[in-house]
Amino acid sequence: MSDPAGKVSLTGIKPTGEVHLGNLVGAIRPALRLAEQYDSLYFIADYHALTTIRDADLLRHYSRSVAASWLAAGLDPERTTFYVQSDVPEIFELSWVLSCVTGKGLMNRAHAYKAARDRNVAAGDDPDAGVNMGLYNYPVLMAADILIMETDVVPVGKDQMQHVEYAADIAGSFNHLFGDKYTFKIPKGVIPESGAGDVLPGLDGRKMSKSYDNTIPLFLPENKLKKLVRRIPTDSTPVEAPKDPDSSAPFQILRQFAPESAADVVADTRKRLEAGGMGWGELKNVLFEVLNTELAPMRERYEAYMEPGSELDEVLARGAERARERASRVLSGVRRAVGAR
Ligand code: TRP
Repeated sequence: MSDPAGKVSLTGIKPTGEVHLGNLVGAIRPALRLAEQYDSLYFIADYHALTTIRDADLLRHYSRSVAASWLAAGLDPERTTFYVQSDVPEIFELSWVLSCVTGKGLMNRAHAYKAARDRNVAAGDDPDAGVNMGLYNYPVLMAADILIMETDVVPVGKDQMQHVEYAADIAGSFNHLFGDKYTFKIPKGVIPESGAGDVLPGLDGRKMSKSYDNTIPLFLPENKLKKLVRRIPTDSTPVEAPKDPDSSAPFQILRQFAPESAADVVADTRKRLEAGGMGWGELKNVLFEVLNTELAPMRERYEAYMEPGSELDEVLARGAERARERASRVLSGVRRAVGAR
């Protein structure tokens, strides 16, 4: 990320659940920091979520709730073009064109599809059992998301790196065939620094992740938040004994989550754990206080955005308008290049 000035950063957020602490620390905060250096476009990838969510109300709910969470966490929609994928039909038209220059073999090797096949084979089922074409074409749609906005960099987690490489490959194939008439920019994936270091542990001590069902959702009512914090696992070291903060899940969450303003609390807590005399129960009280102080104002903004008819819909409508302007420029170049009318 040498000279970000004037470069475009884009990322998609798949709305398949409520936003949790791990998302805030590992994805949202780093993406918001990047948005200060790049021309940024962030969007809710609702049509990617359609490969698994088959309930209209649920998909609508997650799309709104994830968008509201990012706004509540500080995304500035004036500075970042923030939109919902399905509001930008140009993406889906480009997706078809791209699928016509993408080798089927490339899709056969995509991680998500291969994992589904391997699971089926291991279970003795048909290799493609339960695989829909949306899952199979997922990387092509993702390439369309990226290429239609003339993206330079794509901040993603490790698991999405292959997809960004595919987008670069697909852009290369198109440029090879039609590059005298239209040339795509070649995007590059970056894994943003979380600043926090390791992964955030969840309620069972493993990485906090929706797929492990061990998350602390961001916008719980206070009493529920307190309950979940109590459930974070600790060992049976007695209160008086010295403890290793770095192998304790609640301390890890505290350290990685705590804002600058709570740095003293973190340092003091570390000292007291190491010296002995601070029990896990007290550590959890400290963690709850720090979480709640930081999350309470965000929760209020989130709830306001989630009201029916709130500002959220206008924000997303303005974002879609800006995104479509950009997308339609690229799409007309592509249409001309391939011979569409
Ligand atoms: N596939 C991404 C995920 O599951 C979401 C996504 C969709 C995306 N389109 C994108 C990410 C374009 C980056 C760029 O997390």
